Amino acid sequence: MPDKSRKSILVIHGPNLNLLGKREPHIYGYLSLDEINDQLLERGRGVGIEIETFQSNHEGAIVDRIQQAIGICHGIIINPAAYTHTSVAIRDALAMLEIPVIEIHLSNINKRESFRHQSMIADIVAARIAGFGSHGYILGLEGLAKIL
Ligand code: DQA
Repeated sequence: MPDKSRKSILVIHGPNLNLLGKREPHIYGYLSLDEINDQLLERGRGVGIEIETFQSNHEGAIVDRIQQAIGICHGIIINPAAYTHTSVAIRDALAMLEIPVIEIHLSNINKRESFRHQSMIADIVAARIAGFGSHGYILGLEGLAKIL
């Protein structure tokens, strides 16, 4: 476990979330990823938590970033995007961690196509938020701050 007195959280955004704001905005909203990250950083300052953000379209890069968080971060917020439904590698990387992980989805994945109903990480995360759009990240951060 990291022993820094100031808590730090890693926020991971999966594939295609770099195009938020332009990508199917009727589903994922009009805020860009930068705007969402800015809101998170601001709320992080409010709750006294240091936040680092990371986005990748590549499964292996996400696995690498999760591994780099070992012993450094106190919690992870992750929207694995499409990898939610397919990635054993991301699940295995998260399962190694001894820190709370919060799963976020902008849309309510259970209300959508059946292939989105399965999450490879649902049973290993501390909590899961879906369907609140970008506000879900703020809710996840506030919830994680309470746990830490
Ligand atoms: C998503 C839902 C996934 O099914 C989809 O592939 C995404 C985004 C969401 O935030 O609602 O890219 O994780």
